[in-house]
Amino acid sequence: MTSKTAPVGARRLIEEEGNKLKLGLFGLNCKNGLNLTMAETRYVPTWEHTLAVSQRADDMGLEILVPIARWRGFEGASDPFGESFETMTWAAGIASKTRDIVPVGTLHVPLMHPVFAAKQCATLDHLSGGRFAFNAVMGWVSGDFEMFGQELREHDERYRYGAEWMDVVRRIWTEPEPFDFDGQYFQLRNVRGKPHPLQDPYPLILNAGNSSAGMNFAAQEADFNFAIVETLESGREYVEKAKAKAREYGRDLHLLGNASVICRDSEDEAMAIVEEMRSKGDREATRNSLEEFGINSDSLSEEYFEFEDNWMISMGSRQLYGTPEKIAESLAELSEIGLDGVMLASLDYYDELGVFNDRVMPLLVEMGLRNEVKEIAH
Ligand SMILES: Cc1cc2nc3c(=O)[nH]c(=O)nc-3n(C[C@H](O)[C@H](O)[C@H](O)COP(=O)(O)O)c2cc1C
Repeated sequence: MTSKTAPVGARRLIEEEGNKLKLGLFGLNCKNGLNLTMAETRYVPTWEHTLAVSQRADDMGLEILVPIARWRGFEGASDPFGESFETMTWAAGIASKTRDIVPVGTLHVPLMHPVFAAKQCATLDHLSGGRFAFNAVMGWVSGDFEMFGQELREHDERYRYGAEWMDVVRRIWTEPEPFDFDGQYFQLRNVRGKPHPLQDPYPLILNAGNSSAGMNFAAQEADFNFAIVETLESGREYVEKAKAKAREYGRDLHLLGNASVICRDSEDEAMAIVEEMRSKGDREATRNSLEEFGINSDSLSEEYFEFEDNWMISMGSRQLYGTPEKIAESLAELSEIGLDGVMLASLDYYDELGVFNDRVMPLLVEMGLRNEVKEIAH
């Protein structure tokens, strides 16, 4: 039987040395992943596919799988995210068929009652043997909320609501006796939820807010925050600021970035795939997504098109396209600015992971960023 003190599960990511640079996957529960194009091998999230990708990542020794919580897609011809698996049930299925990797469940905090969410997370933590991590997102796409008959709160208030929500969840996870809760948003009586999570004190918590309210929330509540690395300089600044903020609260905050990867033996081969993605780009979906993400697309300047083209193939994540050496060096740079891990996405996750394991992983081991290259089935 498993006991509370036994496996550290997901907490090994912050409590043990492990690999200097953690690696994971991002967006593998959503149609197209981070790719807003009609390119042939774009990602189709059938259960068999997302499971095969997850198991390959687990075999390679990658640490985390981060799904995206979405309720509708960006439309256009390819409708990216138009099909997606709900992340908590997805994480349950993935956990039951993997060994070591940490499957993350992402919830829109305002769309789920904390009493319900606390029990979902505890259940996931038990069924995964303590491998579960929870990504708390406040929501930023009004279309998702419309479906629930809700409006997004004012930006900073979302995080105040989120902090109170987390307070309820944390107390359910840790308090031995039933309690009453009297907050600004929740008045709850006789609250309890057992079993408590397996991880001690509770599952790892992720948050992806990058605004100052978002960073403050992550500093107080989360173990991992996602940094958007536009340039190495701005990324380094963000990482330093976020870690310093957490220290003000007497906490350690770990930083993750995300990147889109296309690795081939020659630069030309890799860029041919990137060119295919660009030429088959879904402009309508790209513009819809940019509008949803609050970027005003009225003034279509040259820079805008350049930005739009880049967004189309990687949705703002770092672009690691080229030879194995180039990709390993780019990952080393991200580690050097202070990132603890990078979540990867690709046009064809499964095949790309095979290339990554054969060609990039050995270089990362040489650089001291990873401890070993594992054998995977091809
Ligand atoms: C790496 C990453 C992952 C995210 N995942 C989700 C998600 O799954 N669902 C969602 O609605 N928002 C997601 N977001 C959006 C953020 O949670 C957040 O709402 C957004 O960054 C706006 O908050 P901010 O103004 O504090 O930065 C993600 C953002 C990033 C950078």
